[in-house]
Amino acid sequence: MIERKTGTGKQISIEEQIEKKIADAYKEKFPVSKEHHERLINYIPGGATRSLSYFKPYPIHIDYGQGAYVYTHEGHKLFDVTNAYGAIVHGHGDLDVVKAVSQGIARGSQYSTPTKGQYKLAKLLCERIPGFDRVRFVNSGTEATLFALRTARAYTGKDKILKMTGGFHGTHDCVAASTKKNVITAGIPKGMTQDMLEVPFNDFNALERAVKENADHLAAVIMEPFLGAGGVVLPKPKYLEHVRKVTSDNNVLLIFDEIFSYRVHTGGCQTLYGVIPDLTTVGKVVGGGLPIGVFGGKKEIMNIFCHENTDRPLYHSGTFNGYETVMQAGYAALSKYDEKAVTYINKLGDHFQKGILESFKSNGLNIQSNQIGSLLNLHFVNEPITTAEQVLKSEEQLHTLMHLSLLNKGFFTIPRGLFILSTIMTEQEIDHLVNKIDETLKELLPLIKEKYNHLLL
Ligand SMILES: Cc1ncc(COP(=O)(O)O)c(C=O)c1O
Repeated sequence: MIERKTGTGKQISIEEQIEKKIADAYKEKFPVSKEHHERLINYIPGGATRSLSYFKPYPIHIDYGQGAYVYTHEGHKLFDVTNAYGAIVHGHGDLDVVKAVSQGIARGSQYSTPTKGQYKLAKLLCERIPGFDRVRFVNSGTEATLFALRTARAYTGKDKILKMTGGFHGTHDCVAASTKKNVITAGIPKGMTQDMLEVPFNDFNALERAVKENADHLAAVIMEPFLGAGGVVLPKPKYLEHVRKVTSDNNVLLIFDEIFSYRVHTGGCQTLYGVIPDLTTVGKVVGGGLPIGVFGGKKEIMNIFCHENTDRPLYHSGTFNGYETVMQAGYAALSKYDEKAVTYINKLGDHFQKGILESFKSNGLNIQSNQIGSLLNLHFVNEPITTAEQVLKSEEQLHTLMHLSLLNKGFFTIPRGLFILSTIMTEQEIDHLVNKIDETLKELLPLIKEKYNHLLL
């Protein structure tokens, strides 16, 4: 182990040196965030109202965003590759979205009646996404998957739901809970999970076995077409087709949760892969950066909500459902997220991937980058990743250090190595990002050589 003496004569290891250097630079660069954090913890436990926003030594506090950048209270300009975890696709303060919101809110934002905005957004979604004949609006992705599952259960009269290990569908009880040890399930009653089954993503046989064995009680399989929050893990060739066939053959509904994946194609991932589910959920970009969730599907299924077909439609209400200003913002954002825009942003993603892979190679690193369109996840793992289990092997310490080090260099990224692009970004900016990732990898190389040499080529 390479060590150096401090002024007090104490030996400090390479690991300590690197950790200290990066943490000290962070504290020096973001002192106002520390102040704001210290006052916020008096009112919000942990100083973050979203678990993911917290990181050590303290989370960054953003003042405002403009275009591809966010600005901190210290006055630092950071290139934003979080884009609100995928909800923002045209950058911050997009003029069309701002116009839609300001004009919309001035006309009164919510009237609790059907509106023109709901018509425009519903029509656009149904025209673009093949799995949508009919849709209903809610306020978050969590609510969308909750209602998609209720719809499937009500329609089929069956209770069980099968999900994939590593799949993320929000935070309501039955999907937040997991049969796997690594997920914290305190506060979720056992009853909420007794009808949940789980199989590994990309495992053809496990899926087929579980569906066949439980067909009589299984309402639906819910899955992301690729694991998004779970590490951008892509489906193996023919996997989605297999799931479609097995579910259809066994009278089980298939739900694609496209809340994260929708942005890869105007028609969603289902269009890209040519596999059409029975029910679909979308959210994030569809609200133009404002809170939204949408669930929908085939007409014959969604008709269980239809007041005109039955005296007893499935009940679905919510004070803010179909919030008119959100509808207008979503329509503004989505109507210009057309084929040209998606092609542009996806190419930008390919360019990013190319650059980052070259950097891994030139640094002698055997690590991974999983990418589809404008989404990319770096993994400190030495083998190609096709399962959620492999994602969990990624070296946490390296992610933590890379995240802080990139903030120090002016790049706002998601701590677990997920990068999300927006249409306002340019190739030059992506090149600059790649350079800074490269610099960071060089900074971490002595630690990797010492502690993680399985990641060397
Ligand atoms: C695939 C997927 N489903 C559901 C959700 C939950 O959405 P929300 O955070 O809007 O509740 C997310 C959020 O990241 C997601 O990625």
